[in-house]
Amino acid sequence: MTTPRPTAADQSGASEQAEYAAAPGPLLPDESTLNRLAAQIFAAMPSASPGVTALAATPTAPAPRAGTSPSATPVGGAAAPPGGATPEPTVPGWEIDPAGPPARTAPVHTSPSTAVPSAAVNGMPEPSSSIPQSLSSPRGYSGTPATGIPAAGAAVPAPTYATAATVAPESAAPTVADPSTGVIGSYAEYFTPPLPAFTELLPPTRALDSAGSVPIAGAPAFYFLDRPTEQAQAPAPSSPFYFLESNAGRIAPDPRPPFDVYAVRNDFPILRERVNGHPLVWFDNAATTQKPRAVIDRLAYFYEHENSNIHRAAHELAARSTDAYENARDIVARFLGASSSEEIIFVRGATEGINLIAQTWGRANIREGDEIVISHLEHHANIVPWQMLAAETGAVLKVIPVDENGDLLLDEYTRLLSDRTKLVSVAHVSNALGTVTPVHAIVDQAHRAGAIAVIDGAQSVPHTRVDLRSLNADYFVFSGHKLYGPTGIGVVYGKSEVLQDVPPWQGGGNMISDVTLERALFQPPPGRFEAGTGNIADAVGLGSAIEYVERIGMENIARYEHDLLEYATPLLAAVPGVRLVGTAREKASVLSFVMAGFEPLEVGKALNEKGIAVRAGHHCAQPILRRYGLEATVRPSFAFYNTCEEIDRMIVTLIQLARSRR
Ligand code: ALA
Repeated sequence: MTTPRPTAADQSGASEQAEYAAAPGPLLPDESTLNRLAAQIFAAMPSASPGVTALAATPTAPAPRAGTSPSATPVGGAAAPPGGATPEPTVPGWEIDPAGPPARTAPVHTSPSTAVPSAAVNGMPEPSSSIPQSLSSPRGYSGTPATGIPAAGAAVPAPTYATAATVAPESAAPTVADPSTGVIGSYAEYFTPPLPAFTELLPPTRALDSAGSVPIAGAPAFYFLDRPTEQAQAPAPSSPFYFLESNAGRIAPDPRPPFDVYAVRNDFPILRERVNGHPLVWFDNAATTQKPRAVIDRLAYFYEHENSNIHRAAHELAARSTDAYENARDIVARFLGASSSEEIIFVRGATEGINLIAQTWGRANIREGDEIVISHLEHHANIVPWQMLAAETGAVLKVIPVDENGDLLLDEYTRLLSDRTKLVSVAHVSNALGTVTPVHAIVDQAHRAGAIAVIDGAQSVPHTRVDLRSLNADYFVFSGHKLYGPTGIGVVYGKSEVLQDVPPWQGGGNMISDVTLERALFQPPPGRFEAGTGNIADAVGLGSAIEYVERIGMENIARYEHDLLEYATPLLAAVPGVRLVGTAREKASVLSFVMAGFEPLEVGKALNEKGIAVRAGHHCAQPILRRYGLEATVRPSFAFYNTCEEIDRMIVTLIQLARSRR
C-alpha cells in the first residue's frame, strides 16, 4: 500500500536500512578470485549437500538448472511486448493502418531462469543456483507433481511448465547433484536446518517435542500445529520439521505446472544483490515487493516503443499507449473477477484509492450522525481518510475490536451495525499482524445493515486469489507495488451500480466529456475518476505483473507462502526472548515480533548486517500495535521467491543476537 511520506519515527527501521543499502561497498577482487572464494564459501555452507557443493564448485558441472520459470514467453512472440501479446490499435474513428503497428522489435522475454548465468551480476555465484530445484518442497512445487518428494535413489524428472516446450533443449536438462547416482537429494534434506541443528541452539524448555514440533509456551495454538489424531499417531518422520511433511500425502496432484522457487528467483534480478557481504534476503515484502524481469522489460518496452499520452491524439503512439493502458485495465478486471473493465479505476495506490472513496462516495452520502465502521487492525490509510471525513461531516467512527491473537471479534462487529451504519471499511489482511479477516462475512453483514463495504486488499492480492464475484464488496483497493508491479500505481474497483451515481473527485482533463466556461459534463466511470495524465507506463507494468503471477498461479503462491509461514513460525517462537505479535487463526505470510532486551530497530539493524531486510517500526498501524502495548515490532514478511534457507539465516542471526546479551 502506498503511504504518505513517513516521518523519521514512522520509518525509523526502514530509513536506517536504506542508509546501509546506500553505503558504498569495498573494492572487489578480480572475477577469478571472486569465483574461487565464492566456491569456497558455498562449499562451506551447511545447507549445501556435499554433492551439490561439488557441482557448484566444479567448472564442468551442468550449469543451467532444469527449471523454467512461468515467466518464459513462448518463442515466436517476437512481435509482442515482453510478457504479453501485441495489442492492435482499436481506437474507434481513427485512421490507423488496419494491419496494425509495424512488427515490433521487442526482445522475446526469456526468463533468466531459462539461462542461469554462472556468476551473478556482481561477480559472485548466486547461492541458490547451486541448490537443485527438486529439493524445494513437499507439495509438488517441483520434482514429482504429486508429492514433490523424490524417491530415494531415483532420478527426479525435470519440472515442466506450460512454456517448457518453448525453452531451449539444453536448459531443460535435469540438474543432477551426484552424477554417479543421479540422486539429487530429498525434501527432508533440504528442510534440515543449516547449523548443526536448531535443537542445539534452542533453550531446553523450547526443544523440539517428541513429535518434532516446537512447543510454544503460553502461545495460542496455531491451526497448522493442531494435528488430526491420525497424523499425531503416525510415526514421527526423520526430519524435525515433520509438520511440513505431514500434509504431503494428503495433497491432491495439482494440474498446474509445479512451482520451483529457484527458477522463480532467477526472474528477480535484485535477488542477486549482496548487502553487507551477504546475499540479499528480502523479507520486507509487506512494505513492497521486488520486480520480476517481465515487469522491468515491459516498462522499458513501453518507453522505447509506445510512450504517448492516452485517449488524446490520432497518431500511432497514442494508439499504442492507449491500447496498452486499457489492456492493463482489462487484465486487472479479469484478475479481480470484476464484471467489467469500467469498474477499474487507476490511482497511485491503495492509500489514494481509499481517499478517493472517502472524498467521492463518502462526501456524497455520509451525513452528521452517520456511522463508519473500521477495525482495530487497520493501516493508517484506512483510518485517517475516514477520520477526516467524519470531522468534515459530523459522522462517527466505530471500531471492530480484536482479541489477543489478532482475530476480529465478529460478534462485536454485529453489535456495532445499525441503520446508522453507512459504510464499513476493513483490511482483507493486516499488514502489521498478518491476520486474514473474514471479509465475506463482513461484507454480507454490512449489506444486511444497509451499508456499503470497502475492502482494503493491499496485503491480500499478493498472497491469495480474490474473486469479487463471490466477495461482493462495493469497493476494493490495492497497490501495484505490493503485487510485484511498479510503485505509484494502484487500483480502485467500484461496483458499477455504485460508481454510476458518484461525483468526481479531482477535476481536469481526461475526466470530462464537454466543458464550457459555465459548466462541465463528466465522463462515465472509470474516466470520471481519472483526472489528468495518469501513470500510464506503470499501469501497463502492473498488467504485466499480474500476468506474471497468474502464470505462476495464485494457488501455487498461496500454498508455498503458507508453507514458509508454517516453517518460520515455530522456529521464530522458539528463539530466546521472542514474543510473536499476531497469532490469528488464519494468517498471510507476515510475522511480527519483539525480542526481550532489544529494541525492534536494533533487531532490524542486526539482521541488516547479515543482508536480511525486514521492517522494524510501527508499520503505519499504530493503533493495533498499541492494542498489544507496543510502539514497534520487527516484521519479516515473505513472498513466493523466499526460501526456507533464508528463514534459517534469519533464525540463526536472531539466536546469535539473543545470545550476545546473555
Ligand atoms: N504499508 C506498508 C507496510 O506495511 C508500507 O510496510
